[in-house]
Amino acid sequence: MGSVSSEGLPESYQWFPDQIAGHHPSVIKNGKREIGLLKIPGSHEILKPKQDASRGEKEVALYKLLSSSSSVDATTSSSLLTTSSDGLRNGTRMKDVNRMKGLTAKFYGMETLFVDGEDREFLVLEDVTSDYTRPAILDLKMGQVTYDPLASAAKIEKETIKYPPQATMGLRILGYRIHQRNKEVEIRDKDWGKSFDETNIQNGLSEYFSARHADLKMVLQEALDRLQPFKEFFESQESFKFFASSLLFVYEADKTLPINLRIVMIDFSHAFESNGQRDEGYLFGIKNLEKYLNSLISET
Ligand SMILES: Nc1ncnc2c1ncn2[C@@H]1O[C@H](COP(=O)(O)OP(=O)(O)OP(=O)(O)O)[C@@H](O)[C@H]1O
Ligand SMILES: [Mg+2]
Repeated sequence: MGSVSSEGLPESYQWFPDQIAGHHPSVIKNGKREIGLLKIPGSHEILKPKQDASRGEKEVALYKLLSSSSSVDATTSSSLLTTSSDGLRNGTRMKDVNRMKGLTAKFYGMETLFVDGEDREFLVLEDVTSDYTRPAILDLKMGQVTYDPLASAAKIEKETIKYPPQATMGLRILGYRIHQRNKEVEIRDKDWGKSFDETNIQNGLSEYFSARHADLKMVLQEALDRLQPFKEFFESQESFKFFASSLLFVYEADKTLPINLRIVMIDFSHAFESNGQRDEGYLFGIKNLEKYLNSLISET
């Protein structure tokens, strides 16, 4: 994803330069460029375009639910969650919502911006990469299936053949970027990610976690530690199922600074209410990731 002209953007905004995956202005569809994430350089926020139709509605609904402060907000229906009249389920959902709050980027509300000649709605989110001098950023798409329960037969077919190891690993490397000492950025894209399966995914993970070279073991250990709250959440939550959603990793590649590894869940365009079932596919991916990290630690 190279740099794209900021022509057509409101003054002082640029395309978010550290975007790993997703809709990007370098992609032209039907003669129009896609709208990607925006940023005011120097700020701690990014703006993610609200996607069309139910996808955008779902993501906004989930972030609003997570930022709601009262139990009443968390139990009222939204376009993500069909109303449940069962008080017990509402109580469970409230608990799950509260536990998920610390696992995502902060949501600051919606904003409308005039981009490429039209008004577009954006979610204003915390930029989790902004506090780093030289961020190393990784996007892992989690779960065993990447199509949601409402997908057409054609979509199911397309998603299933796209990357078969998704089903056996429960995760996939969508890409990573490592800011190097000389201001260069090492970029690995989705085709790189697709070159791995369960026999060699360690190679990809080990390159990403090696940005501080000899500190590899410490970085891996920190990743394992930070992963635990996500595992605990998925081991018990029975309110949501996520499809084509990601875990975003970031840590400091500058060895003179603390590692400061952070993980957040992102991309909720295909988040569904699960009504009393765990998200086994996502949990399977987390457990495998834990296994891969542990085996890298024992090899290091
Ligand atoms: N809160 C955040 N902080 C920093 N970077 C982020 C954040 N959210 C998303 N990103 C970056 O943007 C990329 C794309 O995000 P995301 O997957 O949410 O968008 P998308 O795929 O275009 O959207 P959708 O799947 O809803 O169509 C991620 O790979 C990540 O690099
Ligand atoms: Mg996406």
